[in-house]
Amino acid sequence: MGLFSHNKSQEQAPSSDNADAQLSGDSTIREWLDHPVGGQIFRAMLAEAGQNEKVLGPVKGWSLKRVAGMSQGKMTDEMITDMVQKANGGSVSAVPSASTSAAEPSAPDMPEWQEKITPGRFAGQTVIVTGAGSGIGQATASRVAREGGRVVAVDISPERLNDFKASLSEATIDVVAGDITNDETIEQIVQTAGERIDALANVAGIMDNMTPVHEVSDEVWSRVMNVNLVGTMKLMRAVVPKMLEQKSGSIVNITSEAGIRGAAAGAAYTASKHAVVGLTKSSAFAYTGTGIRVNAVAPGGVATNIEAKFDSDMFMERFNAASAIMPPPTTANQLAASITFLLSDDGTNVNGAILPSDGGWSAA
Ligand SMILES: NC(=O)c1ccc[n+]([C@@H]2O[C@H](COP(=O)([O-])OP(=O)(O)OC[C@H]3O[C@@H](n4cnc5c(N)ncnc54)[C@H](O)[C@@H]3O)[C@@H](O)[C@H]2O)c1
Repeated sequence: MGLFSHNKSQEQAPSSDNADAQLSGDSTIREWLDHPVGGQIFRAMLAEAGQNEKVLGPVKGWSLKRVAGMSQGKMTDEMITDMVQKANGGSVSAVPSASTSAAEPSAPDMPEWQEKITPGRFAGQTVIVTGAGSGIGQATASRVAREGGRVVAVDISPERLNDFKASLSEATIDVVAGDITNDETIEQIVQTAGERIDALANVAGIMDNMTPVHEVSDEVWSRVMNVNLVGTMKLMRAVVPKMLEQKSGSIVNITSEAGIRGAAAGAAYTASKHAVVGLTKSSAFAYTGTGIRVNAVAPGGVATNIEAKFDSDMFMERFNAASAIMPPPTTANQLAASITFLLSDDGTNVNGAILPSDGGWSAA
């Protein structure tokens, strides 16, 4: 379950006797957390999602409405109205916000980025996208499809894939439901792609449980390495022969801020994403001059369904200190803009690049 998941049915309405300040959808997350009643409601909601307030560090200065806007529809207007009513003892507040944290001002509301489609950018091309059932993979698959490409959409979840395909009925999307660590799935992906494979976006990936090496379990280590690194390698290995024959092809692997620094995730995830960087650079070097380009995108925080679970108190403390310089999370569509640039012919002459798409986090 992701950061913004919410199960309304289990929500309890605590007493609002001691709540004097009024909360609204425009109140910041920090104001909600500082509020005696709003704080309880918000913390209960996080607990249901298997989270706690520490994961909210970078967005604490944002309004509840703004965070909801990034929740991919999981936090609806109705839920916000319900929360506001409960926090204010039954009435919806017209009062803008409580000012309980004047020392830490809210982030300014910036104009939202607007996606601009380049019609036909992928026309005539077959593009494989893994992780297409959710988040960054789905946004990438959608952008390619809406720019005229045929997408081979891969995910372990058949339901999410089918929903995605149904959401773009005009587009050409073939789905492959399966685990990218499984050789049969890899075979099926290549067969489904058929004659040509113009591009591959290796997006499917999983987080670890934010543990340092002395606390990491063999199970977490193997699972994270298998999906993030082995699955990525297997699919590259399977598509490269066809790209060599075609004398063209673009591969984009998704690493992470954790692929370029040590302060963004636990040992397993960080090692897996550093390894994806190595795999990308080695391949870019190996295939130079063949028409194949291999690059990677390193996202910072992105609002998706990826699970952020902290199983180590020691690590959480270190992480929170480091996250002070982390820009607020961005949207999956913004990542798709960076990924499709490298996937497309616009990325000509870019090979072996590790492109941070992180709002400047890596510059700090
Ligand atoms: N969200 C972030 O903040 C963030 C930051 C840096 C990097 N990333 C990376 O971006 C990529 C996409 O993550 P997201 O945030 O969109 O997550 P997400 O959980 O929303 O989507 C990941 C998708 O991959 C699929 N998947 C997982 N394991 C799979 C497997 N073995 N085989 C096939 N499909 C599988 C899942 O079913 C899911 O639909 C990942 O590689 C992740 O490590 C994410």
